Amino acid sequence: MENLDWQNLGFGYRDSDYNIRCYYRNGKWGELEISSSNTINMHMAATALHYGQEAFEGLKAFKGKDGKIRIFRMDENAKRMENSSKGILMAQLPVEKFTEAVRLAVKMNKRFVPPHDSGASLYIRPLLIGTGPEIGVKPAKEYLFIVFVMPVGPYFPEGFKPTDLVIMRDHDRAAPLGTGKYKVGGNYAASMDAGKLAKEQGFSAVLYLDSREKKYVDECGPANFFGIKNNTYVTPLSDSILPSITNKSLMTLAEEMGLKVERRKVPYEELESFEEIGACGTAAVISPIKGIYDADNDTWFRYGKEPGEWSVKLYNKLRAIQYGDEPDKYGWTEIA
Ligand code: PLP
Ligand code: COI
Repeated sequence: MENLDWQNLGFGYRDSDYNIRCYYRNGKWGELEISSSNTINMHMAATALHYGQEAFEGLKAFKGKDGKIRIFRMDENAKRMENSSKGILMAQLPVEKFTEAVRLAVKMNKRFVPPHDSGASLYIRPLLIGTGPEIGVKPAKEYLFIVFVMPVGPYFPEGFKPTDLVIMRDHDRAAPLGTGKYKVGGNYAASMDAGKLAKEQGFSAVLYLDSREKKYVDECGPANFFGIKNNTYVTPLSDSILPSITNKSLMTLAEEMGLKVERRKVPYEELESFEEIGACGTAAVISPIKGIYDADNDTWFRYGKEPGEWSVKLYNKLRAIQYGDEPDKYGWTEIA
């Protein structure tokens, strides 16, 4: 992989050498299969294509100074995919099968893991789709699980440079009692229009308010929201946001650093009182936010042009664990 520009990868699709597949047929999962094809052959009446029976995951592997490759918290992604599958009535893949497939995908594509000093990582994309044909709205009888990988840089091109979010009350990504807590494709389709509008206006993402009352902060496009004030890390408690593994990790690290951690409803009015705001997720890592624009009221909340002190500390700590620069005392990483 000598000819890849590791420093400037961005977040885009790239082919790798192999992907791992596993089929669910006749009520059971088969063996893992290694494929070198980047296409799949699927029935035109597959439920994934018509009725959105699709769930995916996103996790990363990092190369350490020691040359070892560490996969971050993949058991959490495995459990979340199980939960997403339950939510939209898909066959559930056992956690061990998920982790085995991820390990194999990383091992088979080692040459795509970016070097330690590049700041880049290997993005791992597992997905599960209903492949069996149905025309009535009901779950498929057959499923396909795939894991593919690619080297990536930061999701927001600015990386750790602060960006602006926009509040749009005329778009929701998920219904109050809908599928927002699952990582299913439909939520992302629902968010594309607003996301595109936000980008066209120079914002990195939409800050969604709760879709029932528009009173509370939900999440930021493809990432969770956190705010810091008075030595407290605050992050929304909501049934319609994706439970972020990055956020969960940051809550642990924040507590370790002496911050209080509050997971609770975050009223819109509270936005003006935060000292720091961040968007966090596997792809986004921590993206500091310098401003939030409320398009309906033509008002700005501002948080400073540079990343805040706690955001920097949290970012550095998380990255150090992921890259193996600091001891992994929580057992979050597994050497591939
Ligand atoms: N929220 C949404 C809607 C996401 O798509 C993601 C990305 O996975 C996250 C939050 C962050 O979750 P995680 O930290 O597990 O990647
Ligand atoms: C992730 O952070 O892994 C995501 O899934 C975000 C986005 C690419 C959908």
